[in-house]
Amino acid sequence: MSNDTTATDAFPQAEDLSGPLLTVKDLRTTFSTPRGDLTAVDGVSLELGRGETLGIVGESGSGKTVLSRSIMGLLPRSKTTQSGSILFEGTEIVDAPDATLRDIWGAKIAMVFQDPMTSLNPVVRIERQITESLRLHTTMDKAEAKATAISLLGQVGIPSPAERVRAYPFQLSGGMRQRVTIAIALACSPRLLLADEPTTGLDVTVQAQILDLLSSLQAERHMAVILVTHDLGVVATRTDRIAVMYAGHIVEMASTRRLFASMAMPYTQALLKSTPRISDPSHTRLTAIDGRPPDLINPPTGCAFAPRCDYATEQCRIEAPPLRTAPEDPTHLFACWNPLQTGHAGTVTTAKGEL
Ligand SMILES: Nc1ncnc2c1ncn2[C@@H]1O[C@H](COP(=O)(O)OP(=O)(O)OP(=O)(O)O)[C@@H](O)[C@H]1O
Ligand SMILES: [Mg+2]
Repeated sequence: MSNDTTATDAFPQAEDLSGPLLTVKDLRTTFSTPRGDLTAVDGVSLELGRGETLGIVGESGSGKTVLSRSIMGLLPRSKTTQSGSILFEGTEIVDAPDATLRDIWGAKIAMVFQDPMTSLNPVVRIERQITESLRLHTTMDKAEAKATAISLLGQVGIPSPAERVRAYPFQLSGGMRQRVTIAIALACSPRLLLADEPTTGLDVTVQAQILDLLSSLQAERHMAVILVTHDLGVVATRTDRIAVMYAGHIVEMASTRRLFASMAMPYTQALLKSTPRISDPSHTRLTAIDGRPPDLINPPTGCAFAPRCDYATEQCRIEAPPLRTAPEDPTHLFACWNPLQTGHAGTVTTAKGEL
């Protein structure tokens, strides 16, 4: 293998391209806590196509991270019980043996976390952090792995990659460190990249650069991406579809265009109102959604959003609304007894303009 071999063509694979890449069916993830069982993901079903970008949005505590970690098979077994199914290219992730998960991690599904300092080892040079996974999942020798690491750093926009590869994480800025974690995630050409709040904590300009980088790498590699955020503005221009989470449930799911044109859920509208607009002065505080998220150990009967919802009726407090399809668009799902009128939600202004 020559030195200019990229990570992409290091993995010639006979692929079965029919069917979805990922199918999650009725997934439940429960933690046992001192106060009792807490169901953080409660009956989630979704499908993801090859090369597709799905945004997962929801307020803090809605279950976005637990869902992503469940898909990756990353939750500690001793404190977690799971039911349902997560099929990735035909392999079941729920209760998969460790050996199966080790084959999948990095090589087929990779994850970029919110804080690069927690996923990077501060006392190990970047070179080793990238080459370790290449050596584990490929037949590359040391020199080939190093050349690939330098090439990957170049691809994620790190200047002078041949020198920077010798650096330690603490010698880089926050934005550069997040680029390094993306390079590590991409090293073995995963089919799916899970990015959990990949830009929180970075300044606005760097956020946009990192998100644009993810979009362009995704298009080049035809890689599916799940982009997790609490910010609807972030996913507005960067996803094909959006799943909205509340209290462990997907409460609305639609194509991105459809969601912004005719969102059905008052909760989705409340999330949109809590999204900062580029016209706001930089010191504007986020408007949080009024009221408190439900206690997931003792969830309320009826719709979990009802106590906070301006449109709630008696029925909402008594009976949980099922996930149903919009009559004019069967791919638009929502769980609400009193959905918003079409067009009621208005428009959203993002860094890329108005949708
Ligand atoms: N290891 C754990 N043990 C017990 N409960 C947990 C654990 N991890 C998460 N939870 C609970 O599961 C629920 C969902 O948490 P999760 O981290 O998925 O939320 P999130 O949507 O990612 O929020 P954020 O936007 O703040 O990252 C929360 O109620 C949280 O307290
Ligand atoms: Mg989270």
